[in-house]
Amino acid sequence: MADAGFIKVAQVSEIRPGEMIAVEVADEQVLLVNVDGNIHAIDDICSHAYATLSEGDLRGEEVECPLHGGSFNAITGVPINPPANESLRVYQVQIEGDDILVAPPAV
Ligand code: FES
Repeated sequence: MADAGFIKVAQVSEIRPGEMIAVEVADEQVLLVNVDGNIHAIDDICSHAYATLSEGDLRGEEVECPLHGGSFNAITGVPINPPANESLRVYQVQIEGDDILVAPPAV
């Protein structure tokens, strides 16, 4: 059974390795990323300005923003390339069977 605060947002079979999708968690837009078979969750909205990273590109662990080309580590949320200079929030992920459950980041 899922821990408190975790809600089901998608299924593992929906996101193949190297793919990402956007979901909503507690009114926040969250980006689910499959890096080498592991699911990670970070903010979908870029920390630089307003753009959805789910419309950008994923290369390995790097997510590139479609608006100005800034990029982030998809696992840690840490910026890699400018103009992105502020980290994205990282959400907690649990996998139960084929279900992906996400909890908001601890503030
Ligand atoms: S909005 Fe993402 S790099 Fe500018």
